[in-house]
Amino acid sequence: MAESKYGHLVKKMNMRDTQRKIGGNADFINGFSGKDLEGLALNFTWAIHKGLGDWHAGRDPHVHPYDECLVFMGLDPDNPGYLGAEIEVGMGEEGEKVIIDSPTAIVVPGGLVHGPLITKKVDQPYGFSAICLNGEHETTWLGEG
Ligand SMILES: [Fe+2]
Repeated sequence: MAESKYGHLVKKMNMRDTQRKIGGNADFINGFSGKDLEGLALNFTWAIHKGLGDWHAGRDPHVHPYDECLVFMGLDPDNPGYLGAEIEVGMGEEGEKVIIDSPTAIVVPGGLVHGPLITKKVDQPYGFSAICLNGEHETTWLGEG
């Protein structure tokens, strides 16, 4: 069998069942850091969510030293503009509330406090990806939880 020249660049995404019982965080998730990605200055998650409530059990808000993008996507191929959920996201030290109810990307520059993320309504499971421009994940939790 011929040796693969590029096979090491192809990474299988095995979705892990989080067995989540409460809150709006991921039900199925996978993620990679830079060491899994041939040293890229990137870490990211890809997840499917279906629950209601606070994603991080009172630990929010939080902050990262690097830039992050929060991407919310619908999963209905017959209606790609439909998210299927309503999520409230706190932004900044002020906790300004942003409501997400359609496919959306939120830019979170490094050092910007964000959260909590609270799912208010779910009609259909949706996809979420946290894309971080750093090889290693680093989060400082600022909440009480
Ligand atoms: Fe974050």
